[in-house]
Amino acid sequence: MPTILSNRATTNRILHREKASKELQTKSRKKASMVESPFKPEILRGKVALLTGGGSGIGYEISLQLGKHGASIAIMGRRKHVVDSAVSSLNSLGIPATGFEGDVRKREDAIRVVESTFKHFGRLDILVNAAAGNFLVPSEDLSPNGFRTVMDIDSVGTFTMCHEALKYLKKGGLGKDPSTAGGTIINISATLHYTATWYQIHVSAAKAAVDSITRNLALEWGTDYDIRVNGIAPGPIGDTAGMSKLGLEGILSKAMEKMPLFKVGEKWDIAMAAVYLASDAGKYVNGTTLVVDGGEWLSKPRHFPKDAVKQLSRVVEKRSRHKPAGIPRSKL
Ligand SMILES: NC(=O)c1ccc[n+]([C@@H]2O[C@H](COP(=O)([O-])OP(=O)(O)OC[C@H]3O[C@@H](n4cnc5c(N)ncnc54)[C@H](OP(=O)(O)O)[C@@H]3O)[C@@H](O)[C@H]2O)c1
Repeated sequence: MPTILSNRATTNRILHREKASKELQTKSRKKASMVESPFKPEILRGKVALLTGGGSGIGYEISLQLGKHGASIAIMGRRKHVVDSAVSSLNSLGIPATGFEGDVRKREDAIRVVESTFKHFGRLDILVNAAAGNFLVPSEDLSPNGFRTVMDIDSVGTFTMCHEALKYLKKGGLGKDPSTAGGTIINISATLHYTATWYQIHVSAAKAAVDSITRNLALEWGTDYDIRVNGIAPGPIGDTAGMSKLGLEGILSKAMEKMPLFKVGEKWDIAMAAVYLASDAGKYVNGTTLVVDGGEWLSKPRHFPKDAVKQLSRVVEKRSRHKPAGIPRSKL
């Protein structure tokens, strides 16, 4: 009987927790859709941004927000219909935008897309590398080819795009007035590799490499070409393929209780970080990967309730005050 009761109580607790989490998620989404950008709408006026993976999810939201702050947008992705529909959404908001089919794993595609962006808009100032592949898989079931594919998209693809964009992004580069600063690169990373993440060995390794690329290019190209190179590491972001493809939405609604800020992030949160890094507000920021996760990667279970800890520390304190304070004796 007690077991049945405790099972029922556990079920009720879980249901209650799920309901509360869903309410929190809905509330935060509603709130976000009403939140206006705190940045001035013209802070990126005259800039041209190229975004890999800019046709969907986080990449699309970054395209949208860079566009809303004055930038012209070029989107690169493999699926033509995704790119086309993103471009027409941006155009319908009055944002100058164009799109190119392309695979970041192919150097010839990278060269063509960067050149086409330059031909279309006459310059390139911002490169955002958001293209990525992801799926959950236990390490023993992941073939070396599967591992390599994710490395190729996330890490090699990021480097290839940076490499081909250099001649346009650098100070005095093609289409640039030599008296103005060089451009900027933003690499979309993750927090998976800060510790270790179940069934994500490929993405963890790929994003660790992305962070290395960010730091090394920040050093070399910051020094030689006045290009700032930074990253953004999103935590779990709601309403994205990254979350739904991994089936994480259900799991996270339970885990949210232990997460600082008690919620998953929104695409808008990542896009605001990108606006900051791309604008002059971030002009002295170089080589950093900005974690935008509400503190999620730091989250740990709370083993002691706070009241118990306060109680315990009062007892320990009292006991130590009553202990006679003598000269410490050597144990030797
Ligand atoms: N969602 C999250 O919670 C989360 C958390 C941490 C980090 N991130 C990072 O945020 C970024 C966006 O993720 P998302 O969840 O918004 O997923 P998403 O919508 O699937 O975005 C990935 C985009 O990359 C494009 N892409 C994939 N492979 C490509 C290739 N080889 N060449 C060119 N484009 C390619 C995809 O378009 P095509 O398939 O048409 O090419 C798609 O538009 C990724 O870098 C991801 O690792 C996401």
